[in-house]
Amino acid sequence: MISPAKIWPDDRGRHIQAHGGVVIRVEGVFYWFGEDRSPDKDPGTCPVACYASRDLMDWEFRGRVFEGRNPAGISGLWQIERPKVFHDRKRGRFVMYMHIDGQAPGHWSRYSVAEVGVAVSDTVDGTYQWVRSFRPLGKESRDIGQFTDDDGTDYLIFESRPDLAFHIARLSDDRMDVEEIVATIEAPIEGGAIVKHEGIYYCVGSHLTGWWPNANPYFTADRIGGPWAGPFDLAPPETLTYGSQSTYLLRIAGSWRTAVIYLGDVWRPYELHDSRYLWYPLEIGGGKLALKPAKGWMPGPWKVDVETGEIEYGDD
Ligand code: GAL
Repeated sequence: MISPAKIWPDDRGRHIQAHGGVVIRVEGVFYWFGEDRSPDKDPGTCPVACYASRDLMDWEFRGRVFEGRNPAGISGLWQIERPKVFHDRKRGRFVMYMHIDGQAPGHWSRYSVAEVGVAVSDTVDGTYQWVRSFRPLGKESRDIGQFTDDDGTDYLIFESRPDLAFHIARLSDDRMDVEEIVATIEAPIEGGAIVKHEGIYYCVGSHLTGWWPNANPYFTADRIGGPWAGPFDLAPPETLTYGSQSTYLLRIAGSWRTAVIYLGDVWRPYELHDSRYLWYPLEIGGGKLALKPAKGWMPGPWKVDVETGEIEYGDD
């Protein structure tokens, strides 16, 4: 079973380090990428770790697929957060996007560079080679999310603070650039995640409260280009999204039903390596999305049959 917000050991018995991450499926295998915040990591690096699983429950550590040794050469404090990975099927390669940030010259904030970084690999589990960093379409970009539409078009979701806007932008065919903003949600939100279900697009985000949880809103649209309706509450607001922050929406189109799973981070700002994962199936349909415990007050243990899409709930 998957136990939300608990320690989640990998095949080595260590708590999984894939914070602010993403899960993609390649030839039946799930790959989970995220920020490796291990206390024993080289402090001069911000690595991206990769884990593999066939059932979403047991994860094998595949390694640090991107070392993250200040690849953009930022002079002051710097960091890499929220890696995402797109599968470029045409070229048979994988393109990693990441939030890369640090102190821009003359700025005190360690989030004033506000760029995306790009790295590429011929295999899903690395090693990813640095390509470049840039501001998408010249705009500041902090938290990023990823979405692939039914037609294979890849989108980067990014938050741009000066515009107080949340952008959904199409990537270029080779995934090396951000080509066009197709929709903007006029709200200061981050941690963006999108899923399409029965012809409706659902977009989840988080308010700008740093590491501290808030009541995550969602928006809906009939077309990716909008108009987007919302905000609506994803979970009862007083739960602050059960202490979590959105990072990705995973869709499992099973033979029996489609499951849409919310992937959130339960951050522990003073011990980031101990941050937990709140993964839970969503109630979805007809333009409504709900993160709601099937039993009790808090999301408890559950599992999904990744072939049929069937979900089973356990007891706490
Ligand atoms: C959050 C963001 C995290 C991290 C953090 C730093 O708002 O979602 O990824 O950047 O702020 O305070």
